Amino acid sequence: MNVSKIACRAALLSGLLGLCGALAAPVHALEIKLPQATSQLKASTLAGYQSANSWCVMCHSLDYVNTQPPMSAAFWSAEVTKMVKVYGAPIPEDQVKLISEYLGKTYGTDQK
Ligand code: HEC
Repeated sequence: MNVSKIACRAALLSGLLGLCGALAAPVHALEIKLPQATSQLKASTLAGYQSANSWCVMCHSLDYVNTQPPMSAAFWSAEVTKMVKVYGAPIPEDQVKLISEYLGKTYGTDQK
């Protein structure tokens, strides 16, 4: 990930869409290599596993998932909804369902 992408994401998160284009040009000359993210989701055959791997890394590392204390499936479902409704994650409704199911079953405390 390079600096302009990060700046762009920051701009998107704070609702300053215009900044994206403005920041992209000047910082292009500066290429900073960040270390690969090492945090990975618990593997699963559920479709939501692949989907979470695609969608849940857009804004932050998967540490955000892995470092949560044990939580209920309801928490995970609400969490995914919050990413969409509050933080503006562009995750399609059908994928929200799949990811919630995956997180609830794999990270949830009440569906073992
Ligand atoms: C559009 C950007 C975006 C996407 C995509 C996104 N998140 Fe987040 N997420 C955030 C922001 C912003 C925070 C809050 C960061 C902070 O408080 O430091 C956050 C925080 C979290 C947290 C920490 C607890 C909390 O509620 O603050 C968890 C867990 C989490 N995200 C899970 C997910 C999962 C699972 C997905 C995929 C379904 C996802 N995120 C996708 C933006 C995003």
